[in-house]
Amino acid sequence: MPFPVQRPRRLRRGEVLRSMVAETRLTKEQLVLPLFITAGRDLQQPISSMPGHDRWSLDRLPAEIDAIAQLGLPAVLLFGLPATKDTEASGAWDEHGIVQEATRLFKARAPQILVIADTCLCEYTSHGHCGRLTAAGEVDNDATLELLAKTAVSQAAAGADIIAPSDMMDGRVAAIRGALDGAGFSQLPIMSYAAKYASAFYGPFREAADSAPAFGDRRGYQMDPANRREALREVRLDIEEGADIILIKPGMPYLDVIREVRDAIDLPLAAYQVSGEFAMIKAAVANGWLDERRTVIESVTALARAGSDIVITYFAKDLARWWGWG
Ligand code: PBG
Repeated sequence: MPFPVQRPRRLRRGEVLRSMVAETRLTKEQLVLPLFITAGRDLQQPISSMPGHDRWSLDRLPAEIDAIAQLGLPAVLLFGLPATKDTEASGAWDEHGIVQEATRLFKARAPQILVIADTCLCEYTSHGHCGRLTAAGEVDNDATLELLAKTAVSQAAAGADIIAPSDMMDGRVAAIRGALDGAGFSQLPIMSYAAKYASAFYGPFREAADSAPAFGDRRGYQMDPANRREALREVRLDIEEGADIILIKPGMPYLDVIREVRDAIDLPLAAYQVSGEFAMIKAAVANGWLDERRTVIESVTALARAGSDIVITYFAKDLARWWGWG
């Protein structure tokens, strides 16, 4: 008796057929490029742990906006480095803050590019935590919500297309939704970092955004990498509070979480291939240990295969180049 299961014929061979039957297709229309904008003038500061990425001052940003537009990338995620930091994170909600002004530049120069504003306080607080602190030096969840809501409204007023709270305070999506609605931005979507793990993979970002906590860590408000079911609880809460897009981060170490959330909810899903994932690949490529193009494409395809619709990646420009201009 021959083995009864028919083996797939030719499907493993030939570019054309392989492409016709590929189960996952990721295109540049699904990519988001994170960008770091800094106070100061005439600056394009290389970020040493993120080769190829720089901090841009506002006056130098137009050239980068043009480059992004040329590549046909659909969206950017903006982070800001203010001139000064304080306990109230005033640079985050300043009408003329870094992200607000960068948003205005983008919308004036390349209005087709979606601006996603990162809504968090850690880049703006003198202590580097994602919220206000109590007298005892702990993050004061409820007192932080008001600042986050103010930040989101100022970003919306500057023209942001999507508000992306990344702080992980409890109740922030509801607070931001309420404030946006009250300020006349009821149509503005919220992409919430619903499952954000307390991850070592954020290391290079903290150099890039100068946002490492001065003491302690973020384990009080970010999730334990050991937990999967908790991610679903966080996601459901954010949806109840009004999230429109759910974000999971980091990416590759959490493919199981992406898949689980994808199967459980019907909102659009985004995955964030974070700074440490980028740096790992870059370092191995620099040593000649990995092929950059194949590794990057495989890594982002895996995020899409796991279930994400949107992929936030520091390789967005490279991918747009490799995938052509069309
Ligand atoms: C701000 C924030 C962080 C990242 C995105 N938003 C850092 C953190 O939580 O410490 C990390 C992104 C990356 O590593 O690329 N809270």
